[in-house]
Amino acid sequence: MRIIRAKDYEDMSRKAANIISAQIIMKPECVLGLATGSTPIGAYNCLVDWYQKGDLDFSKITTVNLDEYKGLTRDNEQSYYYFMHEHLFGKVNVDPGRTFLPDGMEPDSEKACADYNKIIAATGGVDLQLLGLGHNGHIGFNEPSEEFKGETHCVDLTQSTIKANQRFFASIEEVPKQAYTMGIKTIMQARKILVVVSGEDKAAIVKEAFFGKITPKVQASVLQLHQDVTIVADEAALSLV
Ligand code: GLP
Repeated sequence: MRIIRAKDYEDMSRKAANIISAQIIMKPECVLGLATGSTPIGAYNCLVDWYQKGDLDFSKITTVNLDEYKGLTRDNEQSYYYFMHEHLFGKVNVDPGRTFLPDGMEPDSEKACADYNKIIAATGGVDLQLLGLGHNGHIGFNEPSEEFKGETHCVDLTQSTIKANQRFFASIEEVPKQAYTMGIKTIMQARKILVVVSGEDKAAIVKEAFFGKITPKVQASVLQLHQDVTIVADEAALSLV
């Protein structure tokens, strides 16, 4: 586990974007595992900027996103489909036919998850998986639990996650209560993992997840077992370690 200390959010974003762009340059047809949340937005902005300057070409990449809310339409501004189009896909030359997310509008959870597992398998596996970190240690939407789940599954979001995401919705009632997420086994199968973390409010979970006991109660702690993890975190997020 490699920890890269960044000064602040902007520095963290640039450093993370550099790692992602190196991956694309070294392997133009790579498979990127992508994440949502507020943390990766700065890195996506850098990638868009470098694309516009002619330094990056997304035309051969494939992307698979970690998760999607169950029940939100693609044109709902809070869906992760919308998020990805807003922050990245709509601004670079990625082939829309090779960008994948779980289908949040598939009401049959088993089907939605099985379909997504097939899509991930067909890509040949993720080269670089980008991850944010939830306050309770979740990665994707793998919430604290008694076990590590393998592949894509439907999760009941915890009250703390629903509350944390409330800021994006008009009211707490509008926050979806379920989501489809890649499982821990799939995340751990990525050849490389890049975690981005920013802010003092994440300092306690950074310490617990990456320096504490490996337990499904803190799902990100499993990353300690992966052979190629890079954490890019700002000083505030690293203030307790
Ligand atoms: C959501 C996403 C996660 C993300 C987390 C942290 O719950 N499903 O993938 O890492 O939020 O979000 P933020 O980066 O806004 O703190």
